[in-house]
Amino acid sequence: AAVPESARVRVPPLVIAHRGASADWPENTIPAFIAGIDQGADMIETDVHMSADGELIIMHDTTIDRTTDARTLYPDRTDRSIAGMNAAQIATLDAGSWKGEQFAGIRVPRLAEVLALVHDTRTGLLLEVKHPERYPGIAEAIVDSLRALPNYLDRALAAGMLVVQSANWAFISEFHGLAPEIPVGVLGRPCPDELQDFAEWVDQVNPEFCAADPDFLTAIHELGMSSLVWTVDELGEMERAIDVGADGIITNTPDRLVEVVEAL
Ligand code: G3P
Ligand code: CA
Repeated sequence: AAVPESARVRVPPLVIAHRGASADWPENTIPAFIAGIDQGADMIETDVHMSADGELIIMHDTTIDRTTDARTLYPDRTDRSIAGMNAAQIATLDAGSWKGEQFAGIRVPRLAEVLALVHDTRTGLLLEVKHPERYPGIAEAIVDSLRALPNYLDRALAAGMLVVQSANWAFISEFHGLAPEIPVGVLGRPCPDELQDFAEWVDQVNPEFCAADPDFLTAIHELGMSSLVWTVDELGEMERAIDVGADGIITNTPDRLVEVVEAL
C-alpha cells in the first residue's frame, strides 16, 4: 500500500531531550530542561507522578530516593514514595546534589513549572505518565493543568508540539477519552492486531531502540502513526535510529544528536 503523506518519515528526526539534557544535568529538573532547550532540542521528554495531595510532580522514579537527598532529610520515614508524600514535603528536597555538588539546591519541579518554561519557547513537550494506576484522578489533573495556562494548549496543539504518552495503554485510552484533542503515544511494542486498533486513535507508537526494527517502524508509518525511539546516546545508534526511520530520537545527549541531524 502507498504510504500516506501524513505518515512519511520525519526528516530530520526530532531531537528529544530525555528528562532534559540529563547526561550533564540532574534529570527532570528545570536546569536540565533549560539545557536541553539551549542545546537545540525540539522537545523535552519528562515523567509525571502525583503527590498525596494531588500535585503533579516531575520525577522518573516512584520514590524520591535515587534523585534527591530524601534519605538524609527523612531518615526515619519508611514510605518515601511520591504517592505517600505531599507537595510541600517534596518541595524541600534537593534534587541536584546526587549529580554533583555544583547542582546543590535544585528542586523537584511540578508540571505547572515545566509548562511555564516551555510555554514561551518553540520547544515541545513529550509527557510520560508514570504508573498512572497508582494515581486515581491523574488524567483529569493533567488535562486541567494543560488547560490552565492561558494560550498554552491551543498553541502547542497547533504546532504539533505536545504528546502525552505512557506504557500503561489502558490509561492512554482513558486519557484520550477525556481530551481527544491532545495527541497520545503508547510506549512499547504492540503486536500487529493491537497496532491496527491503535491506528484508529493513537498518534505515536514509541518503542525502545532495541525493538525498533525497520519492519516495525514501516508498519507504524503505513498505519498513519509516527514513532519516537528511546533512549539513544551513542553516535552509531543515533545513525541506526535514523536509518530505521525513527521520526524522533529520545536522548540524554541532545547536543550530540543535534550535530548528527544537522549533518543530514
Ligand atoms: O520516553 C520514553 C522513555 O523515557 C521511557 O523510559 O524509563 O526513561 O522513562 P524511561
Ligand atoms: Ca520517560
